[in-house]
Amino acid sequence: MKKECVLVSGGAGYIGSHTAVELINAGYDVVIADNFSNSDIHAVEGVRKITGVDVPCVEVDCCDMEAFRSKVFEKYEFNSVIHFAASKAVGESVEKPLKYYRNNLTSFMNVIELMRDFKRPNIVFSSSCTVYGEPDKQPVTEQTPRKPAESPYGNTKTMCEDILRDSIKAYEGLKGIALRYFNPIGAHPSALIGELPRGVPQNLVPYITQTAAGLRECLSVFGDDYPTPDGSCIRDYIDIVDLAKAHVTAIRRMIENRNKEAYEIFNIGTGRGVSVLELIRKFQEVNHLKLNYKIAPRRAGDIIAIWADPTRANNELGWKAERTLDETLVSAWNWEKHLRGIK
Ligand code: UFG
Repeated sequence: MKKECVLVSGGAGYIGSHTAVELINAGYDVVIADNFSNSDIHAVEGVRKITGVDVPCVEVDCCDMEAFRSKVFEKYEFNSVIHFAASKAVGESVEKPLKYYRNNLTSFMNVIELMRDFKRPNIVFSSSCTVYGEPDKQPVTEQTPRKPAESPYGNTKTMCEDILRDSIKAYEGLKGIALRYFNPIGAHPSALIGELPRGVPQNLVPYITQTAAGLRECLSVFGDDYPTPDGSCIRDYIDIVDLAKAHVTAIRRMIENRNKEAYEIFNIGTGRGVSVLELIRKFQEVNHLKLNYKIAPRRAGDIIAIWADPTRANNELGWKAERTLDETLVSAWNWEKHLRGIK
């Protein structure tokens, strides 16, 4: 029997590469499309090495409609798309809003338009818990109201969700699932793929691992005077392999026509809130090392606390976060050591 094929746009990126691996492990064919603007071909090589499959990879910018059509949609027979291709740096989006609106919205609208024209029915969109803003109540469910975005990046997530909802209403046969990720961290246990931040990392875990590796002198903890038990911010850190598996369950749900609505939304988190200071403590403990860190002023735009109620994903997708925080933090450090050649 011919395998179902899934197009993974942005498949050379952090979440995309891990998802490509899990799709292949689950028996799907995968085509990767990436413009390598913020990713590296090594990630695709890592996917090939882990799976033993010579995954096709097309270098293309999803914003270039004609190239996207001729190099991807006309060439490959897939019924499903997972759309990761987007710019993702919150701070940069504040300085370059047009770059974010142009890139993230255009590429997404192109994907949907081509899916409509070529009758490719299933799409998973990478959304984010950023759409909830600073929630009034924890944990957040999918019914928790969305709040105005704090950044152009966050706004593109909200806008793409709406574009997807409206397109599904209008174009018959189109189905979609938006996955609202909490904070993805860690790396594949093989240490062959992981997060590859360009320049100074903006996110907590890559900053921690680079500090541990000696690339950064000292980690700054942005604020210890928040109204939380230890004063630092709280997040729901979701293991990258668990997150990748959530995409497989979402794709399978649509292929098997098990979705209850043509457009569905799921929170993808663990259901557990962890503070910045707790995470640092855990990282040191499980990796048996000492991290140089200091308390610094609050970072503008940070949410105080947010964690997921993942019940809907647990019940409907049959998905649950499985790896422990300890395992995830060990994998993050193993990946950094692999990158830097540390024994
Ligand atoms: N933090 C530090 N020091 C650092 C980096 C981060 O203390 O060097 C703290 C932050 O202040 C925050 C926590 O670590 O309290 C997590 O910060 P991240 O930057 O890792 O993640 P955010 O929660 O700010 O952002 C993430 C994604 C965004 C997404 C957002 C949704 O990176 O893409 O979650 O809330 F929009």
